[in-house]
Amino acid sequence: MHESLPDLIIGNLKINPPFILGGMGVRVTEHKLCAAAANTGMGGTIASVGLGHNAVKGKNYVQGSNNALAKEIKLARKLTKGVIGVNIMVALTNYAEMCTTAAKEKADYIISGAGLPMKLPEYVGDSKIALIPIVSSGRAAKILCNKWLTSYNRLPDAFVVEGVDAGGHLGFNMAEIEAWNEDSHVRVCKEVIQVAKDYEEISGKHIPVIAAGGIFDGNDIGKMLEIGCEGVQMATRFVTTEECQAPDNFKQAIINSTIDDMVIIKSPVGMLGRAIKSPFTERVNAGETIPFKCPFHCISVCKPKEVPFCIAVALLNAVDGDIDNGVMMAGHNAYRVKEIVPIKTLVDELTSEAVAYLNREK
Ligand SMILES: Cc1cc2nc3c(=O)[nH]c(=O)nc-3n(C[C@H](O)[C@H](O)[C@H](O)COP(=O)(O)O)c2cc1C
Repeated sequence: MHESLPDLIIGNLKINPPFILGGMGVRVTEHKLCAAAANTGMGGTIASVGLGHNAVKGKNYVQGSNNALAKEIKLARKLTKGVIGVNIMVALTNYAEMCTTAAKEKADYIISGAGLPMKLPEYVGDSKIALIPIVSSGRAAKILCNKWLTSYNRLPDAFVVEGVDAGGHLGFNMAEIEAWNEDSHVRVCKEVIQVAKDYEEISGKHIPVIAAGGIFDGNDIGKMLEIGCEGVQMATRFVTTEECQAPDNFKQAIINSTIDDMVIIKSPVGMLGRAIKSPFTERVNAGETIPFKCPFHCISVCKPKEVPFCIAVALLNAVDGDIDNGVMMAGHNAYRVKEIVPIKTLVDELTSEAVAYLNREK
C-alpha cells in the first residue's frame, strides 16, 4: 500500500513528488514558476533558450545570455530551498557557455536535449551538477553512455525519455510520429531502463529514468512508475498554473483548444515541433515565408537566409502575448486541459491520483 510516491533520487538530489517541471522556452519556465514548482518538492527547470534576446537586444548575445541565466538561477534560489535545474538545448550556438554558467551558478541539474549532448561533461568541469540527457531511444542512451564513459569516465545522472506527444521540438521524424502508438512510450522507456541497468552493472552507478511527453494525469504517472521509471517530466499542464508567467491568452489558447488544434510544424531548429494551431502556424504550414532579421544566430543548424521563419521571434511573440504571430509549443494532450489552477493544487491532484493508481486492485 503506497501512502505517497517514492522519491526520485538523482545523485545527491531528492525529489518528491518525483516530478520534474519540463523546461519551456522561451521564458515560459522562468524563475517564478520554477521556484513555485521546487517549493512543492518537485524539480523546477529554468529554460535557458532565449533569455539573452531581451537582455541584450542583439549586442554581446553570449555574455548577455550568460548574465540572464545567472540572474534567473539566483532569483529562483531566493524563492526556494528546493531543487532547481536548467534546460539547455544542444542545438544552441551558445550551448557550451550556458552549460558552464549553469554549473558555475550551482544549479542542481542540467537537462539537455534537441540533439545528443555528447560533450556536456566537458563544459561543467569538476562541478557536482547532475547531468540529465534527453533521449528518444535505447540506442541513443547507449551511444551516449559509451561516449561519456570513454571520453570523460562518467555516466549520466539520469535520463529523460521523451516520446512523440511532448510539446516543443521532437526527436522524431514524421514517419516515426505516425508509427507511434499507445504502447510505444512504454517500450522506449523500458529500452532505456535496460541500457541504464547494463551500465549500472559495469559501473555500479544507478541511472534513474524519467518519462516525458503527453503525461497528463496521475494514471499516466502511475503507469510509468510501475514499469520502472523513477519520475516523470511534465510541461504543458504547468503552463496553465497561476504561477506561470505566460500571458493569459497563451493559457486560454490551451484551455480553448480541441484535438484538431494540436499541430506539428517544421522548425528552423531542423526538427519537428509540436504546438497549438495559430494563424502563424497555419501560415508556415501552408509554406509561407515570414521575413525576419536575425540578430543572434541562436540555433547552430539554422541558416537565417534559407529558413522560412525565425523560431526565436515566433516563440518570443507568443510569450509577449502576440499569439497570432507566435508559436505556442504544447504537448499533444493540451486540449484536455480545462482550467488555470495554483501549482500546488495541480501537484497535489497528480500525486493523489498516482498514489491511487499504484494502489488500485489489479
Ligand atoms: C511551451 C513549451 C516549450 C518547451 N521548450 C522546451 C525547451 O526549451 N527545451 C526542451 O528541451 N524542451 C522544451 N519543451 C519540452 C518540455 O520540456 C517537455 O519535455 C515536454 O513538453 C513534456 O511533454 P508534455 O508537455 O506533454 O508534458 C517545451 C514544451 C513546451 C510545452
